[in-house]
Amino acid sequence: EDKSLPTPIRIKLDDTDPEKIQLGDGAEKKGTRVRVFGRVHRERRQKEVMFVTLRDGYGFMQVILQGDLAKTYDALTLTRETSMEILGELREVPAGAHAPNNRELHADYYVIHAGGKAAGGDDAITNRVSKDTEHATLLDLRHLTLRGENASKVMIVRDAVEFAFNTVYKELRMRKVSPPALVQTQVEGGATLFKFQYYTEEAYLTQSSQLYLETCLPSMGDVYCIEKSFRAEKSLTRRHLSEYSHIEAELDFITFDDLLNHLEHVMCRVLEVTMSDPTIKQYILDLNPEFQMPERPFKRMKYSEAIDWLVEHNIPNEEGHPHKFGDDIAEAAERRMTDIINRPIFLTHFPTEIKAFYMQRDPQDPRVTESVDCLMPGVGEIVGGSMRMYDYEELMAAFAREGIDPKPYYWYTDQRKYGSSPHGGYGLGLERFLAWLCKQHTVRDCCLYPRYFGRCKP
Ligand code: 4AD
Repeated sequence: EDKSLPTPIRIKLDDTDPEKIQLGDGAEKKGTRVRVFGRVHRERRQKEVMFVTLRDGYGFMQVILQGDLAKTYDALTLTRETSMEILGELREVPAGAHAPNNRELHADYYVIHAGGKAAGGDDAITNRVSKDTEHATLLDLRHLTLRGENASKVMIVRDAVEFAFNTVYKELRMRKVSPPALVQTQVEGGATLFKFQYYTEEAYLTQSSQLYLETCLPSMGDVYCIEKSFRAEKSLTRRHLSEYSHIEAELDFITFDDLLNHLEHVMCRVLEVTMSDPTIKQYILDLNPEFQMPERPFKRMKYSEAIDWLVEHNIPNEEGHPHKFGDDIAEAAERRMTDIINRPIFLTHFPTEIKAFYMQRDPQDPRVTESVDCLMPGVGEIVGGSMRMYDYEELMAAFAREGIDPKPYYWYTDQRKYGSSPHGGYGLGLERFLAWLCKQHTVRDCCLYPRYFGRCKP
């Protein structure tokens, strides 16, 4: 350390200290002295002046260090990500210059508290993560990439969207419950079950909370949950995670049409509530400049119509043949169709054989179920839902057809014994919803620390 360099004099901080503000705030504070805390997001030097962009998760602020403040040892060796406390006066930026929120802080004092200095040299954050770093490395360094502007905006939008779902469900008088994650029943097929040893028994990580939500209807009315679901997906795609946030709802005494109308309302209202916060709206537009509210009503298309559409458009099935009734519409074909149609689609009435055991058959056409997938451009399926089989005998026959032992499901089948009702529900993948809203290439960038085939760290 060069002792000849000037050091700022520590001002005693007491009740006369200027007000502490967060970096996105203070629009009305121009001309006043404030105190801010944050990390160095960017810094650049111009002769005697240093421009520091500070970040605190609530916004960014340009700080100007000049005179002796720019010449201290700490200023000359300032590294990105260093935590700082800065006092100074907030001023409008000069005409022609640009800074976040059109104001800048003219510092008269700053301090880097013990431990606040970030590594420099080879270990500097800019040498570890940059635009050219491979995606897998960026995911290994997720704890650092989360500090980037895009990653943090997606996470902040995610928080707002989750809050909006809670708000909208409360508007609809729906009640939130918290079903267990450790279970002994499957919902969406044995192939993607994560099994583990639960003391002396075998158990699974839940694939969906649906069956538990159904058990709440008789005592709580319409219910929802926002919980993790787990799927041992063995393929690497841009929309499959092993652990994802599942927003699920179950509604009592409804028709299939009620279910579709409810779903459309919830999705649109969640977008409205989310976009009503100007900061969040700006973040969404930064990430997805072409974003527009979806047009209502959503396009409704039966599975059989989709098969015809795929044949007409020469989009083959997974074996390379024209699609035929009964085929699963694979991810690639589904996405091409959604991208060409380019608006949200409710794809309905899937054949019984390709859907889960619990789905109610269509009374008009028993080959198909009262089921729906909601498809969004760029991502494809983001919601799966259906009416539930509510007749006891029919449900038992479905277990037999699928070769599932009904015994562990006694608590589920009992619902059909004690006052069954026409009911239905759905599950929405939060990461897929965000990938669509924030125009992210993969759901992996829409969760904090993604888990997928081959990755369980950091
Ligand atoms: O279509 P799925 O499998 O439906 C169910 O689990 C129903 N039991 C839900 C219900 O009716 N309560 O999954 C629902 C949604 C999908 O549309 C998708 O958005 C998401 O969950 N999803 C996944 N998201 C990320 N990674 C995965 N591996 C996912 N699997 C499903």
